Amino acid sequence: MFVGYTGMKRKSFLTAAAIMAVAGSRANIRGGFSAIPADTDDEQYWSALRASLFPIESGRIFLNNGTMGITPYPVLSALQNGFENAAIKGAYPGHTDDLQKSIAELTGCDFEEIAITKNVSEGINHACWGIPMNKGDEVIMTTHEHAGGCIAWLHRANVDGIVIKTFQLGKTADETLANLEKAITKKTRVIAVPHIPCTIGQILPIKEICALARSRNIITAIDGAHPLGMIRFNLHDINCDYYSGCLHKWALGPLGMGFFYVRKDMLAKTRCTHVAAYSSNEFNMATTPPTGGKLVDTAHRFYYGTFCGPMYEAAIEALKLYKKIGPERIETRVRSLAAYLQESLMALGDKIIMLTPTEAKSRGAQVAFRINNGNPKASSELVTGLYSKKITLRYVGENNVDCVRVSTHYYNSREEIDTLVAEVKKALG
Ligand SMILES: Cc1ncc(COP(=O)(O)O)c(C=O)c1O
Repeated sequence: MFVGYTGMKRKSFLTAAAIMAVAGSRANIRGGFSAIPADTDDEQYWSALRASLFPIESGRIFLNNGTMGITPYPVLSALQNGFENAAIKGAYPGHTDDLQKSIAELTGCDFEEIAITKNVSEGINHACWGIPMNKGDEVIMTTHEHAGGCIAWLHRANVDGIVIKTFQLGKTADETLANLEKAITKKTRVIAVPHIPCTIGQILPIKEICALARSRNIITAIDGAHPLGMIRFNLHDINCDYYSGCLHKWALGPLGMGFFYVRKDMLAKTRCTHVAAYSSNEFNMATTPPTGGKLVDTAHRFYYGTFCGPMYEAAIEALKLYKKIGPERIETRVRSLAAYLQESLMALGDKIIMLTPTEAKSRGAQVAFRINNGNPKASSELVTGLYSKKITLRYVGENNVDCVRVSTHYYNSREEIDTLVAEVKKALG
């Protein structure tokens, strides 16, 4: 049960006024970093947004958007309304294409190429099990995959005998591309890599990776957990075959919402492993033999069964908010905060091992570093210790990365970053 519904509504109303008032008086424009346009560093504007849009408790410094975004009031309100509506009217959730259309508009594809999923992992599974492969076929991945990005592929290797090969991320986009190219063999069938890995948050040269793959007749299945809501991208321009993203991280949608993009010309070549109502319009079990089996000719075939209508409505609200504030403006803001953080951390000296590349085009809105002060547990202890001081970070222990990951969204501030950096300085000893 949601508490404070009327309060929420009142707040949503105040929100619009607050945003307009503050946006209208944007005068305090500060300088930024060389590669990043600096015209959105108006702390007043962003702090007004934070105060009016986000329920996060005061005093909490939340720097873990890489795991989940903070749900804004209009999104919570849409969820509440949606559930109430279903309960009051006994209304089964209707199914429009509005959410797919909104995602397609933001990601540069056709809405028929988008299926709504529960999360990134579901899309990864659609691609992984949907691509016909033979024993010995190779799939290239990074050594920085998230569980949701790699477990399906590793399981398919166990079940079907495909072979998983890995390559190291480079410090620059060129180096990453070169490392990947060296891993390609005559047996490479798929390149399955993240657009932005969950570990150290660098932006991979995804368009170049997909062009390289296409030139060698290799399929691309991209893990796009992080980009939507952080950076702008265009799927037709990237030219990948599959792209699995989510709405509950940087796009600030409700928890447990994702999308799966399948290129139009890949649809017929992709095996659809889970189907039910919505995948097909045709079935009749009363004929002899029973008839059916033809799937709809859009990505809608990846839908199956009852879905959570209120979540769709809430996700639409989240994307409306994203568009209203402005994707370019948000991207500039979140990258500028990360650049500020990275420079501040590096100024602390060589006890900070910076893992996120400093190359501007490779750096998004996440910064990962390791502490080198003689204590092998220093990085994980920092994350645990700061949580009790109301600073939320992510410790990355998987794949032996061992680092602290800091994600900066637009509701974070330079002041919060200064507080974090002061705490890191203390931890260096
Ligand atoms: C790069 C990456 N891939 C996949 C996932 C899994 O996402 P989901 O939990 O939405 O399936 C995550 C989650 O953090 C991630 O960061």
